[in-house]
Amino acid sequence: MTITIVGHGYVGLVSACCFADFGNDVWVIGHTDEKLERLKNGDPIIYEPGLEELLKKNIKAGRLHFTKVYDKAVAKSDIIFITVGTPPKQNGEADLSTVFMVVQNIAPLLKKGFTVVSCKSTVPVGTNKKIQETLLKQKRKDAEFAVASCPEFLREGSAINDTFFADRVVIGSSSQKAIDILLKLHDPIPGKKVVTDLSSAELIKYTANSMLAVKISFANLISFYCEKTGADVEMVLDAVGLDKRIGRIFMDPGVGYGGSCFPKDVKALINTGESLHIDAKLLEATENVNYQTRVYFLDKVFKNTKGKTIGLWGLSFKPNTDDIRFAPSLDIIEALLKKGFTLQVYDQEGMENIKKKYGDKLVYTSNPYEAASNTDAVLIVTEWNEFKQIDLEKVKKIMKTPLIFDGRNIYEPALMKKLGFTYYSTGRQPIII
Ligand SMILES: NC(=O)c1ccc[n+]([C@@H]2O[C@H](COP(=O)([O-])OP(=O)(O)OC[C@H]3O[C@@H](n4cnc5c(N)ncnc54)[C@H](O)[C@@H]3O)[C@@H](O)[C@H]2O)c1
Repeated sequence: MTITIVGHGYVGLVSACCFADFGNDVWVIGHTDEKLERLKNGDPIIYEPGLEELLKKNIKAGRLHFTKVYDKAVAKSDIIFITVGTPPKQNGEADLSTVFMVVQNIAPLLKKGFTVVSCKSTVPVGTNKKIQETLLKQKRKDAEFAVASCPEFLREGSAINDTFFADRVVIGSSSQKAIDILLKLHDPIPGKKVVTDLSSAELIKYTANSMLAVKISFANLISFYCEKTGADVEMVLDAVGLDKRIGRIFMDPGVGYGGSCFPKDVKALINTGESLHIDAKLLEATENVNYQTRVYFLDKVFKNTKGKTIGLWGLSFKPNTDDIRFAPSLDIIEALLKKGFTLQVYDQEGMENIKKKYGDKLVYTSNPYEAASNTDAVLIVTEWNEFKQIDLEKVKKIMKTPLIFDGRNIYEPALMKKLGFTYYSTGRQPIII
């Protein structure tokens, strides 16, 4: 098949490389010459494990093309995927301006034969119907098309594996022809294919992300109770998670969720609720607890740190990505800078993005030891693997004060006690030396 993918971010580029790898001819439309040149030369721009290799392989095989020109790609495509961003507006509503700009670019170029136009961007329920109406108004008379919602569920950091081995593929459309074409495209993917209507497909995506956010906030809420009562949150959640109706996965207490999806999708679902007169207090509380996690974490830091130099381990919103959008680290950095702390920061992949945002306000280091060197405290904000078995004795020697605030519960309190650290984690009693 010939496929056009508009947008080459975490969703667009990963999907493009994976579909090309299955043998399809894939055209990727971008809007910046400089980025398109880098992509043509095999530079994925973003960091995603395995992406550079897959990109280079499929460029070499002649199955991946990058262009700014819609005509080149759209007219020959069987499927067009829209994968541009849908960031939150001030009021939480999803900003759909780029999606509709793309739809208007596509409309007059649709071919005489049949084309599926499918939105992979996360869009509120009802958006695909509006896309359909716009295309109908602006297409050539003889062009035939159908709209399908194909929401994306990949996770940054494991996006390629998530695409090749998706748990499920959701296809929402009222056109059987479009459904058949999309089923054929996704045939090599072993996961269950869920065929449904447009509105259900749109809502499945928001439901999944909001449910995961609720789970994280619920675990954090319980961690607040644990800290006040002497209970151990990991013990509590391990035991509760043994109940098959509940499960342990995604109940990780810490400094809360971030990234380009959960915060904006929870906000957008609240916003859709408002327009439908649905009281979405559960989701508002989810956001509120997420905010509180950072307040509590910072409270502990402010109350218990004597000096003003801090080492910050982890900047990306989660491990294995360079994405810092709505990362917990941003709230933490802002609060610490406001109080006049000097921050020695380190992250495996997120440094360049943080540098673009903070310039010379932070001290950038090239490894966790350098970040910890001569500090009054170390804060763990992202649970990168390299922190989990770091040489803590060495860390203790190079710090001014052996004090760690662990926002991801990556160490055992008993071990920290043995090593002589004062150690604050989440939902567990502090170790005070
Ligand atoms: N990142 C994820 O983990 C993830 C997972 C599932 C769904 N989604 C959803 O997918 C969508 C895209 O997310 P993302 O993380 O890939 O975003 P992103 O910001 O990484 O990528 C967006 C892409 O759109 C391009 N773009 C912007 N304006 C354009 C234009 N006028 N013409 C052509 N391209 C243009 C940008 O250059 C960029 O390549 C969002 O709706 C998001 O909610 C994201």
